[in-house]
Amino acid sequence: MGVQIVETGLRDGHQSLFATRMTTEEVLLALKELDQAGYRALEVWGGATFDSCLRFLNEDPWERLRQVRKVCKHTKLQMLFRGQNILGYRHYADDVVEKFVEKSIKNGIDIIRIFDALNDIRNLECAVKATKKYGGECQIALSYTTSPVHTVSYYVELAKEVEKLGADSLCIKDMAGVLTPMAAYELISALKKNTKLPIELHSHCTGGLCEMTYLKAIEAGVDIVDCAISPLSGGTSQPCTESLNFALKGTEYDPKLNADMLNAAANKLAPVKQKYLNNGLLNPKVLSVNANIVKYQVPGGMLSNLINQLKQQGASDKLEDVLKEVPNVRKDLGYPPLVTPLSQMVGTQAVLNVISGERYKMVPKEINDYLHGRYGKSPAPVDEEIRKKIIGDDEVITYRPADDLKPEFQELKKQYKDVAKSDEDVLSIALFGDVALKFLKQRNEDAKPTKIKVEA
Ligand code: CO
Repeated sequence: MGVQIVETGLRDGHQSLFATRMTTEEVLLALKELDQAGYRALEVWGGATFDSCLRFLNEDPWERLRQVRKVCKHTKLQMLFRGQNILGYRHYADDVVEKFVEKSIKNGIDIIRIFDALNDIRNLECAVKATKKYGGECQIALSYTTSPVHTVSYYVELAKEVEKLGADSLCIKDMAGVLTPMAAYELISALKKNTKLPIELHSHCTGGLCEMTYLKAIEAGVDIVDCAISPLSGGTSQPCTESLNFALKGTEYDPKLNADMLNAAANKLAPVKQKYLNNGLLNPKVLSVNANIVKYQVPGGMLSNLINQLKQQGASDKLEDVLKEVPNVRKDLGYPPLVTPLSQMVGTQAVLNVISGERYKMVPKEINDYLHGRYGKSPAPVDEEIRKKIIGDDEVITYRPADDLKPEFQELKKQYKDVAKSDEDVLSIALFGDVALKFLKQRNEDAKPTKIKVEA
């Protein structure tokens, strides 16, 4: 069998290029064609997609999923799931994690891609168990980064644990696009040798490496790669589906996607891209190569956040200093991969260290929690001197952080019984609090039959 392709345009594509603003109507535009193209799966749902529906689009994310499912009769649907963080930014109790998995599958998801920012396996366990329980296909993704501890053997050991945990496949998630072609060849070869799991590669074109990296990974035997349909590809997004399909045509790696269907889908989505270029949400800057992300090893989204943070503080001239401070903060914290929420945390700390003129004089609550062990185990030990400076002699937890959390679901269901019309609504509230409540109240209001004024 040739290489399989997962289409990420409807999740990562618009998330990377224009802040996840595609509406359900736009998502549905080319779905019939994509469904008939022969993909392994379409990734259509994840944290930012869910958040953006409620926060910016006044849409029910669950309703989007059901509509997508209705159209997709041939292709599996995939979602991205942040382990114990689900689709949010903190750890949730196990009962919420389990309920979310159950409802995602019931509403149409086939494959759940589960990852943890720190690659702490304990933070994946609950979601993995639930996925299996409700009949979903479980993929575990390992966050890829470079550091003295993130060696090939580090990933091989993790892959063995992932296999033991019962995952159906393994993904290397290179959110920053810093995986080089030769490193990919070495990594994928080693993983193929040491695990039976199908291996998938997810990377970004941000640094200009991705197409080369995919090709070397394919030569090394990678089973699946993530691509995006042309209007939603390139720049900070994934490589173009049609191009890779064409590049491999007639070889042993031929993905055998239906080129006519891809073309028809691209034609329908091209005006969507143009709309976001015209309204300014798609900045042409993100479509060109940013070699700095390879140099500094920071994801594109984090780089633009740092630029904004400094601009707001009138310290744009400090960017170079901050970018040099990022690797120092990472080292102090035990080399966390720079993915949500760690990318924001490390970035903010680097900015504070530079602007305040003294390292760790100001420390955000999240970094404080991290040093208490509340995010899980850091890849390498944290710098004890810095930990002491920040949290003194406080206890550092070594157990799974969610073990401290009491069940939340039934309590929330009772508390919001007037607003939440379904368990799905309760889950939206559990994850996005006020943002979800505001949306749901408005939705309920709009659904009321219009009162007819009786004329006297
Ligand atoms: Co991505």
